Amino acid sequence: MPKARTLPALLALIIVAEEGLRLVLRHILKRRRKKIDHKVIQESGIYGGLESLVSFSACLIAANRAVETEEPEPYILDPLAAGLCGQEALDARRARDRVAAPAVRPVANTSTLLQPEPMAGLHPCQRPIPRLIMRTKFFDDVVTAVTWRGSGVGEKAGDHSCHKELLATLRRAERPCRQVVLLGSGLDARPWRLPLPLGVRWFEVDRTDVLAAKQARLQVLGAQIDAGVAIPPTAVSGHNGAGSAQFILPQKQQQQQQQQQAQATQAGVDDAVRTASGAPVKWRYPLHAAEWSCCAVDLQRSGWSRGLLDQGLDSSSPVLWVLEGLLYYLDEPDVRALLQEAASISAPESIIAASVIRAVRSADSSGGATLLPPQGGSSRSSGGKGPSGEGQATYRLNNEFKWKCREDIPKFFRDCGWGAMACLSWLDAAKSYGLPTAVTTTSSVFLITAALA
Ligand SMILES: C[S@@+](CC[C@H](N)C(=O)[O-])C[C@H]1O[C@@H](n2cnc3c(N)ncnc32)[C@H](O)[C@@H]1O
Repeated sequence: MPKARTLPALLALIIVAEEGLRLVLRHILKRRRKKIDHKVIQESGIYGGLESLVSFSACLIAANRAVETEEPEPYILDPLAAGLCGQEALDARRARDRVAAPAVRPVANTSTLLQPEPMAGLHPCQRPIPRLIMRTKFFDDVVTAVTWRGSGVGEKAGDHSCHKELLATLRRAERPCRQVVLLGSGLDARPWRLPLPLGVRWFEVDRTDVLAAKQARLQVLGAQIDAGVAIPPTAVSGHNGAGSAQFILPQKQQQQQQQQQAQATQAGVDDAVRTASGAPVKWRYPLHAAEWSCCAVDLQRSGWSRGLLDQGLDSSSPVLWVLEGLLYYLDEPDVRALLQEAASISAPESIIAASVIRAVRSADSSGGATLLPPQGGSSRSSGGKGPSGEGQATYRLNNEFKWKCREDIPKFFRDCGWGAMACLSWLDAAKSYGLPTAVTTTSSVFLITAALA
């Protein structure tokens, strides 16, 4: 029998042991639940078969480009987007439209209240450009202006006041920029949809699951993913000429294109490209870059750039870095480290373009990323009670955001090795393009272009 004075110590020991056992059990259960959740996600097609909502954000953003492409007068064209994004993302995007603009029922007495005033100074028929599409257009033009530097194509793409400084920098540059790196590339299809000058090397960095799904889908869709001599399109259409560039190819490239087309016609292949071995291959979507490669890494880990260098990124030649819709998924120290690491392997005259969310005190209606109106606290809700009433899932990307810039954005970039050329909200970018927007208040979504300091 324990003596009375050892009893408290014994009791304390039992309590500690019990608490320890409880913690161990909780940990085991949590791990088991995680495993099961992951299995359910994979099997039921949640997140389109991808591993997380962050990965799935690539599908949700591509779905916006798919829907825009279907518009009678699209601001951008992305014919691959619908096939790349998958049905789940497309359904979610379409459901958002139904919620945002419920069908207007005919009424006997049409009140003037039902007919919104056209925004001042705009043609009443001009459709407001959606935020994500303005972002796409901005980055499209940065890519075109930089890669086609010194040609009419580049000058035309950058012919908006927000790109004035970028064009001036490019005119001063001594070397062309023939390397493009997309960090957090998602399901971007620019090397198939934008004309590129000869010799552009295109690199994409994202998570393993996103890049694996992208490669598989590109192949199914008939997109060329290995190196070849692609025939660039002679023109890319856009919206009524509003901000869309008519691409005139340099003479040498026109001749090459004519030659290729003649060879293709002889071979009986209408939209052919030639592989490195010279054999004609019919692609539905020829690659316009000389090279396309992917690098699966976690951009939150320092040293991520080693993969790019291993794949042949030339750190002695200028690079265009495109960080579209990526940075807010990272923690602030990781954002700083990423910008610094990109700068550390960039040759002089390299350029970076990024979208950034600025921290604001009050909620900003034009800056969020809820793809459907909020339905409670989790990142995804579903089960037949979606806002569309049709069982669509609700995805709340905002819940995944980790970083909003709390200081002056150009200063933040300067501290990381990049000197800003332009930094403006997407609304101001639309203004600079002369395009209407549905929102007229301020926005926390900023677009920045910067040069290596
Ligand atoms: C909103 S999507 C944008 C995709 C593409 N840039 C676009 O605009 O269509 C964000 C992308 O960043 C990627 N991403 C987020 N965090 C990442 C990380 N730590 N490492 C690599 N990729 C990441 C996601 O997988 C996703 O493809």
